[in-house]
Parts: sequence; structure tokens; C-alpha cells
Amino acid sequence: MKSIFITGTDTDVGKTYITAGIAVTLRKMGINIGVMKPFAAGTAQKNGFKSEDIEILSKAAKVNDPEKLVNPQFFPISASPYTAWKKLKIKPKIPTILQSFRKLSNLHEMLLVEGMGGVMTPILNNYYITNLIKEMKIPTIIITRSKVGTVNHTIMTVKSCEKFKIPIKGIIINNFDKGYSIKQLKNDLEGLTGVPVLGSIPFLKDLRDTSLYRIFKKNIDFKSILE
Ligand SMILES: Nc1ncnc2c1ncn2[C@@H]1O[C@H](COP(=O)(O)OP(=O)(O)OP(=O)(O)O)[C@@H](O)[C@H]1O
Ligand SMILES: [Mg+2]
Repeated sequence: MKSIFITGTDTDVGKTYITAGIAVTLRKMGINIGVMKPFAAGTAQKNGFKSEDIEILSKAAKVNDPEKLVNPQFFPISASPYTAWKKLKIKPKIPTILQSFRKLSNLHEMLLVEGMGGVMTPILNNYYITNLIKEMKIPTIIITRSKVGTVNHTIMTVKSCEKFKIPIKGIIINNFDKGYSIKQLKNDLEGLTGVPVLGSIPFLKDLRDTSLYRIFKKNIDFKSILE
């Protein structure tokens, strides 16, 4: 079973919500699932985990892995690792990230790694999220939205992954802010990129286990995810 890097066409596209839904569903299917977010950024939460993403992901997978493994690096400003480095003089630590990734991979059957921003989010000079995925040697799933503009963003994301020879398992359409008809968008994206659309997720009213499991099991092609 291969771990998966969940990336997206942009920040706020739904990577965390979709990763949480996949984690809940795989856990309920009996898989020992782990989660990781190598880099997180923003204002730290007052209680619990620094990053809300880590809290959502850890709850979804029901893991108690140490925060420093699940999220080895947190930047206290809303910025890419590269910009945080330049502004705060905190250098992104790729060897630490890869060490945590290997440790977590040994603790779980499968790891879902959430990216940051999009695939070309800069980490170091000439080192992007794509370079990190490549070093982890895992395939990716691309989260895209349904709003107009998404076709351009999705094609750019697919092309960037292809340039780095990153295998793409599929695209998931996060249909939370409505735009294109999903049937049309699925056909267009598959026709234009040759990458399968694994399903689409509607607006989620809550992140409870039972509702996530019901919605994700019904709408996502888990057979392909597990292949
Ligand atoms: N399917 C959905 N249903 C309802 N709300 C959603 C859905 N997907 C995303 N959202 C809303 O959009 C916000 C951004 O989603 P999310 O945090 O998953 O994005 P992200 O891609 O992980 O962002 P980041 O790049 O900051 O990690 C959420 O806080 C939530 O309010
Ligand atoms: Mg997120």
C-alpha cells in the first residue's frame, strides 16, 4: 500500500477537509492510517496543536503521533516556507521532514501527507513542493474546486507534476463553492489531462466521522486510491 501526497491547485481549495474524509474512510475500512503535514503556517492556536490542519487530520485518523513528527515545521506567519525563511530567518529543514516521514511511514500502513498551497509553493531556492513529493517517492492526488478558473489551475498542476515525473493517482473535485456542472468538469478535466477524476465532494456541513464516512464512501473511488 503506497502512501499518498495530497496536493491541490491552490491554498484553501480543501486539502485538509478532503484528506480528513479520506483518512476517516480508510480507517473505517480497517487500514492503519497516519497523517502528516510537513509544513504548516499561520497564527498558532492557543490550545492543543499549533496548526488547526494538524488537529483536524489527527482527529480524523485517530492518531496520537507526536506533533513534531506529524508537523515537523510550523511557521508563525501565513506564508510559504520560502517566504517564512526570508522574513523570519527560519530555514526549512528538508532532512528533518524526510526523517519524520520515514518514521511515520514505519508506524502506519499508509500515510496521507498534506501539502501546502499548491505544487509550486516554494520551500528553498529552486526547491518546491514538487521536489519534496519526488524525494518522498509517493504518488499524488490533486484537489481542485468547481469554480470557474479551475480548469486552468488543474492543467497547470498536472503539467508541473508531469515535469517532475510524479505519478498522479487522480483528481478530486471539491464542489463546496459551486461553479461548473460536475459532469462537464469531470469530462473536460479527464479529456484535457488524461488523469482520472476519482470523485467529487459536496459542501460538508460537519466533519463528524459518520457523515464523512457516508459521503466519502459514496462519492470517491477508493479502489483506485488503494491500488
Ligand atoms: N467540502 C467542503 N465543505 C464545506 N466547507 C469546505 C469544504 N472544503 C473546504 N471548505 C472550507 O474552506 C476552508 C479551506 O479548506 P481547507 O482548510 O481544507 O483548505 P486547504 O487547501 O487545506 O488550505 P491550506 O492551503 O491552508 O492548507 C475550510 O476551512 C472550510 O471552511
Ligand atoms: Mg490545509
